[in-house]
Amino acid sequence: MLFPVTGSTPQEYPSGMAKPVLTIGLLGYQFMGKAHSNAYRQVGRYFDLPVEIRMKTICGRNEAKVRQAAEVFGWEGHETDWRKVIADPEIDIIDISTPGNTHCEMAIAAAEAGKILFCEKPIGNTLSEAEKMAEAVRKSGKPSAVFHNYRKAPAVALAKRMIDEGKIGKIFHFRACYLQDWIADPNFPIVWRLNKEVAGSGTHGDICSHIIDMGRYLVGEMKEVNGLLHTFVTERPIAGEIDDRMGASTTGEMGKVDVDDASIFLCHFESGALGTFEASRFAVGRKNYNRFELYGSKGSLIFNMERMNELEYYNNEDPVGTQGFRVIQATEGGHPYAGQYWPVGHIIGYEHTFMNLVADAVTAVHDGREPSPNMEEGLKNQRVLDAVERSSVGRCWVSL
Ligand SMILES: NC(=O)c1ccc[n+]([C@@H]2O[C@H](COP(=O)([O-])OP(=O)(O)OC[C@H]3O[C@@H](n4cnc5c(N)ncnc54)[C@H](O)[C@@H]3O)[C@@H](O)[C@H]2O)c1
Repeated sequence: MLFPVTGSTPQEYPSGMAKPVLTIGLLGYQFMGKAHSNAYRQVGRYFDLPVEIRMKTICGRNEAKVRQAAEVFGWEGHETDWRKVIADPEIDIIDISTPGNTHCEMAIAAAEAGKILFCEKPIGNTLSEAEKMAEAVRKSGKPSAVFHNYRKAPAVALAKRMIDEGKIGKIFHFRACYLQDWIADPNFPIVWRLNKEVAGSGTHGDICSHIIDMGRYLVGEMKEVNGLLHTFVTERPIAGEIDDRMGASTTGEMGKVDVDDASIFLCHFESGALGTFEASRFAVGRKNYNRFELYGSKGSLIFNMERMNELEYYNNEDPVGTQGFRVIQATEGGHPYAGQYWPVGHIIGYEHTFMNLVADAVTAVHDGREPSPNMEEGLKNQRVLDAVERSSVGRCWVSL
């Protein structure tokens, strides 16, 4: 079954039966640190999981801030040296929620220590890093998970189910965009996401990676890509103190921007479908506009993260005269994940995508199955990122 923890009927456990415990060490305490902490803290209150989650250690470089994060998010303890977290024999899962330049070293160390790896996307800053990380996980023989959380929105999981059930027929087109505008101001400073050494790439790895994962999830593997990466503002103020909302003060000095501001590509899927992907941080007015349109022989689907509880569906087999796009509220018990939360129509939000992902991942770990998406899928996404970059440099189609 694709989604082990779905629907409205929680699994029954005999009373008094102790559940096995999965102990977590989380590296990173800011944006994703907060989202993951919330998921670990809350998930067992909504899903009847086969395991207990123990939040043992959260790690960051600033002692005062990570101590405060531990208190606020509900961790037993904190640490400033990630190697000590990995060396802790009580910890089962290492969750990497730090910037991309740290992922490879941390992931390989975690895999070599025999830990289960949960990792933020994109898994590495380069394809070569991602290959080494996936190989280390393979060698460890342990399961892994990657936080492509948008797959876990109920409306997206419903889209996947409808495609698998044949309701959409043969897919012709997948059009995806992920648009933001937070750096459109040329005076916005060079934070880590605008620094190639730390982030690997700009918009491309940060948000295009999510729609690549979505395309692969819903339509399948890609055969070839033709892409274009572009930087609109090549010089910006150097960042001073960074706040926890992706903002920053400036030092007064200017620096070069060495990552892309926008990433666009075309693809041929192996199935014969055509894909168009567009990611930008310069789409003024768009905040987190992660959207896809999918057109098939029997019907079409539209999803927009800014209206994440809805899935638009056009059934080409409806009688002529009453055909048209309908809006499905993906909040009923029979919809993936939805029955775990509230009565019909009582909508959920961004944080629930992380809870759904954690529920699926820890259940898979308990059952001895590979979570999805995992490091192998993260590696496939990275191959697409890399192919698009090479295509942009070479101004040509690149095969996968
Ligand atoms: N799944 C999603 O939708 C999503 C959204 C945002 C970010 N991300 C990914 O999550 C990761 C982190 O991004 P973020 O937005 O949380 O960044 P952030 O800047 O908000 O937080 C980064 C954290 O990493 C810690 N850190 C950095 N270097 C460290 C080191 N050497 N040792 C220990 N801790 C260290 C910092 O102290 C901070 O707590 C990135 O890979 C990013 O691409 C994913």
